[in-house]
Amino acid sequence: MIIGCPKETLTGEKRVAMTPESAKHLQKLGYDCIIQSGAGAEAGFADAAYDKAGVTVVKTPAALFKQADIVVKIRGVSDKEQSLLRADQTVISMIWPGQNPDLLETFKSARSNAIAMDMVPRISRAQKMDVLSSMANIAGYRAVIEAGNQFGRFFTGQITAAGKVPPAKVLVIGAGVAGLAAIGTATSLGAIVRAFDVRPEVAEQIESMGAEFLMLEFEEDGSGEGGYAKPASPEFIEKEMALFREQAPEIDIVITTALIPGRPAPKLWPAEMVALMKPGSVVVDLAAEQGGNCDLTKADEIIVSDNGVRIVGYTDFPSRMAAQSSTLFATNIRHMMDDLTPEKDGQITINMEDDVIRGATVVHAGEITYPPPAPKVQAIGKAPAAEKPAELTPEEKAAQELAEQRRKGRNQIGMLIGGGLFMLLIGAYAPASFMQHFIVFALSCFVGFQVIWNVSHALHTPLMAVTNAISGIIILGALLQIGSSNQIVVILAAISVLIATINIVGGFMVTRRMLAMFQKS
Ligand code: NAI
Repeated sequence: MIIGCPKETLTGEKRVAMTPESAKHLQKLGYDCIIQSGAGAEAGFADAAYDKAGVTVVKTPAALFKQADIVVKIRGVSDKEQSLLRADQTVISMIWPGQNPDLLETFKSARSNAIAMDMVPRISRAQKMDVLSSMANIAGYRAVIEAGNQFGRFFTGQITAAGKVPPAKVLVIGAGVAGLAAIGTATSLGAIVRAFDVRPEVAEQIESMGAEFLMLEFEEDGSGEGGYAKPASPEFIEKEMALFREQAPEIDIVITTALIPGRPAPKLWPAEMVALMKPGSVVVDLAAEQGGNCDLTKADEIIVSDNGVRIVGYTDFPSRMAAQSSTLFATNIRHMMDDLTPEKDGQITINMEDDVIRGATVVHAGEITYPPPAPKVQAIGKAPAAEKPAELTPEEKAAQELAEQRRKGRNQIGMLIGGGLFMLLIGAYAPASFMQHFIVFALSCFVGFQVIWNVSHALHTPLMAVTNAISGIIILGALLQIGSSNQIVVILAAISVLIATINIVGGFMVTRRMLAMFQKS
């Protein structure tokens, strides 16, 4: 089959959904690739680079739509492109099916399939295809760079011969993908970063990136379905506003990314907050496309408030970094193609039993298949919704604990009696020297088991460092025995050395991989 990538038609859109690199991977899946001439030019990918990667360059969108069995795009399908759709063609793009019911009807009447990259469910397995995350990551980064461009000072504090420069103070509202990227970028530039989110589970992530999580003393969990937020109560928003009112006079740069899926962006930085800020401060409103988190935001514009605060409302941050965003978008698409081509034979298979493919497919075989059923797998960052146990009274709780302790006590007594009888039985026949060693062995097994069994999974890697040390002791003991005249002792010592060495080498390999995750290449 042929995969084709037309030039984006939306004014100002510089991204492209296929790069020479992604085309090579698509070819390995058995597809032929074609691209419209000039499609990658504004993202820095010339026709010649595609040609070199084995991609055929075609002149017009009409020719491309005619030849391609699969069309990959970024920004939906324009009116002109809709007239070029043909039966059994599959379009893979951002489609926003909730907002574009007419477009779904168009796909349906053309009998073509539509796969919406924006509908890929947020589950671990699908992260590699998650365009919303990869684009939001870029937007978060670019928001800080754009803020720096508008801000008249350094981010980092400096002490120079010419005087002391205080570090910039940055407030990030909403720590989703974009917010976390903004936090990472601002901290790495040396700013003091504070962040707030309605979902308490992000506090650790914020702190691990070197920012301060602003705590709100309020009993409400803003976590909703699918790893997203749910609307906050008016009381919560009021408390949140009070918190921001305290911060506003101090903060130099505010980056707002707060969003609740399918709703207009919550107004969290009203005009009164802008009025509290110092002249020269900057607000970057990433939610501008959904109405903005700031009252004064104008989509696609920078406005200056009466007190000299600049409010940036760009809605095209990823497109402003077209080379980077095209590379990530194209990689997300090629991963989607990977899943859509299970046989690697250049033939697309839309398997509606697959959670990820089902979630993203919005029109299939002449039917609108949006909205999809909820995925069977939990969203990232969510614990499986356990059934809430019935509340117990304090007396019932105490009785339950007592019964549990008694049961444990009985088990332990049983085990002690069993172990004692076993020792007596062995002691009746075995020599005294053996018994001495055997008891030490049995006790160390018991202690080792008690120590290791209760270690939580999250701590298994540091535990490995400890077991490496234990393995070292085992090797030392085995080396002392390996010169024995007794053949059995030699064999046992050799086996100990082998197993302990495997443990040590494995430990080092895992540690190395862990460290590599934190290294900047
Ligand atoms: P997300 O859904 O992962 O994150 C939004 C965050 O806002 C969530 O962590 C949520 O808990 C938080 N939030 C919701 N209500 C809040 C409240 N009242 N107070 C504090 N936090 C609250 O979304 P993602 O992917 O990080 O995107 C963030 C924003 O950036 C979205 O509005 C998205 O459309 C926008 N965006 C803008 C681009 C541009 O070029 N301007 C490009 C890409 C994304």
